[in-house]
Amino acid sequence: MKRIAVVPGDGIGPEVTRESVKVLEVLSGQGLPLAWEEFDFNADRYLETGSALPPGGLEFLAEFDAVLVGAFGDPRIPDMAHGRQVLLGLRTGWDLYVNLRPALLLNPKLSPLAHTENAAVDLLIFRENTAGPYANAGGAVRMGTSEEVAVQESIETRGGVERLVRYAFQSCRKSGRSPLTLVDKHNAMRFTGDLWFRTFRETARDFPQVETEHFFVDAFCMELVRSPGRFRAVVTDNLFGDIASDVAAAMAGGPGMAPSVTLNPETGRAVFEPVHGSAPDIAGRGLSNPMASILSTGLMLEHLGFSREAGLVRDAVKWCLLEGKATRDAGGNLGTAGTGDCICERLLAEY
Ligand code: NAD
Ligand code: IPM
Ligand code: MN
Repeated sequence: MKRIAVVPGDGIGPEVTRESVKVLEVLSGQGLPLAWEEFDFNADRYLETGSALPPGGLEFLAEFDAVLVGAFGDPRIPDMAHGRQVLLGLRTGWDLYVNLRPALLLNPKLSPLAHTENAAVDLLIFRENTAGPYANAGGAVRMGTSEEVAVQESIETRGGVERLVRYAFQSCRKSGRSPLTLVDKHNAMRFTGDLWFRTFRETARDFPQVETEHFFVDAFCMELVRSPGRFRAVVTDNLFGDIASDVAAAMAGGPGMAPSVTLNPETGRAVFEPVHGSAPDIAGRGLSNPMASILSTGLMLEHLGFSREAGLVRDAVKWCLLEGKATRDAGGNLGTAGTGDCICERLLAEY
């Protein structure tokens, strides 16, 4: 039996996660050995108890084979303290240094470049997920005065960069994805940028099968919008990866379509979540697209060893999308639950 901890979170998180749970219900109904439990580690809990996680929460979640997260973010907690506790708590507490963010355009009509020859997107972003400006080092003095000073340190280590870069090369060598593009900013970031650039160049020597190229992040974003199909795999730091993955999502059908997994390849611990946030602007209205969450569930099934089911989930999402059975952002006129139902029906029919 594979055990999954489900943490729906805030805003549209619970809505989209509900549809992923329906997918789990269909599969377990067909005999797949899956069990799951839901946890309210969210903004409400933070506001009630002062903490989004109970004491020992990370150790408790580590008992599960995978964690499925919805999204965090609540206007009542503007500094996102609760989201950082859970999301960044998991990433740093479990040392989940690999964040894989695939961007695959499943329906060409959804591309902002539809009707041009540049619409296709099939890109895998390898984002470092523990360091850089997210390392939580820094501080502020004289807060609230005109002399305020704020420092956010960006911390990178050779070991931290190398393990992610090496993982990206290994993965590309295995899958045949090429070229692997390094995205950095070593022209301006003299110390951390240079560390990324040298580490990439030196690691590349061990992987002659994988072609390489380099882009500065500014030019990369421009090219990703103009011609997303020219990229196949990108390795980059935490902050650039965060930004690039939203741009890539936009080129691959929008925020409702982009799944992700954050993992530690050595321990096997992994958290699956959409790239998007809690979307307070549409929360509670049944408008949110559950596909990013369901595709993340597909990645989770793959990780748990259920490759066939993972493929069927992806195919069911694609089928509904191409049939126009989708939410408005994805070209249909269904609601969140209707879209989830359509995916589940198709999945069951093909099982
Ligand atoms: P967002 O991703 O929540 O929303 C950006 C835009 O995309 C909005 O217009 C929203 O309506 C739309 N959108 C997002 N998901 C969608 C979906 N499934 N279907 C249809 N449309 C969708 O980003 P934001 O507005 O900058 O952030 C809102 C909150 O979420 C903030 O508190 C932010 O910190 C948080 N956030 C959390 C995560 C996470 O939990 N992993 C990721 C990003 C942002
Ligand atoms: C993401 C989010 C998070 C990040 C925020 C909510 C801390 O934007 O998962 O992409 O910056 O990593
Ligand atoms: Mn983000």
